[in-house]
Amino acid sequence: MLTIADHPLIHHKMVQLRDKRTAAPQFRHLVQEISQVLFYLALHDVKLKSVAVETPMTATTGKVIAERIGLVPVLRAGLGMANAMHTALPEAIVWHLGIYRDHETLQPKTYYNKLPVSHGLDLAFVLDPMLATGGSANAALDVLEAAGVPKVVFIGLIGAPEGIAALRAAHPDVPIYLAAQDERLNENGFILPGLGDAGDRQFGT
Ligand code: PRP
Repeated sequence: MLTIADHPLIHHKMVQLRDKRTAAPQFRHLVQEISQVLFYLALHDVKLKSVAVETPMTATTGKVIAERIGLVPVLRAGLGMANAMHTALPEAIVWHLGIYRDHETLQPKTYYNKLPVSHGLDLAFVLDPMLATGGSANAALDVLEAAGVPKVVFIGLIGAPEGIAALRAAHPDVPIYLAAQDERLNENGFILPGLGDAGDRQFGT
C-alpha cells in the first residue's frame, strides 16, 4: 500500500522544504512538522484498548494505543523525523540504525545497529526522508524482518518511482507513507526535483 499525503498543508510545507534558500533551522522544523502529520496518517489503524479514566466531573472510559511501537530512524537523515514522532508518542521506543549509501556504487552500508536482541514490539516505523534507489530502506527493513517485528511501516518524505518499486518488490507487505512522489533519479542517484541531501540540509554539513 502506497499513501501519498495529499493535503494542502503538506503541499505548502513541502515547497518550503524543497526551496534551496531554506536554512538548516527552518529545514529541521519543517521536517518535524511534516513528519508528525505523516505519523498521524500511518497510525490510523493501530490497535486501541479501552481504559477507565476519571475526569474532575465523572468516571468515563477512553481508548489508548494498545500496541508497543518502535521508531527506527535511519541515520543520519531519519533523526529529525524520529524526534517529531517521539514527541507525539513519547512511549515509543527508538532504535537507531546507521546506514549510508556508498557514493560510487549507491549500495547501502550498515555501520550502526542499536536493535535490542529482545524487543517485544508489535509495530515498527522505519524513518528515512529520502527513498531514492530504495537500497537503504530495504536494508533497514531486512534488519527488522530478521528481528521478527510483526508489522513494519516505512515513512519517508520524498520517494522516487525507482525506490518505491524496489521497496515494493522486496517487501510487498510493508505499507509506504510519503509526503511526495517525485519524478526520477539523476545519474548520481539523487531524487529530482527532490530537496538535495536531507542529512546535510538538516545538520548544516
Ligand atoms: C541518504 C538518505 C537515505 C539514502 C537514500 O542517506 O537519507 O538514507 O541516502 O538513498 P537510497 O534509497 O538510494 O538508499 P546518505 O547515504 O546520504 O546518508 P546520511 O543520511 O548520513 O546523509
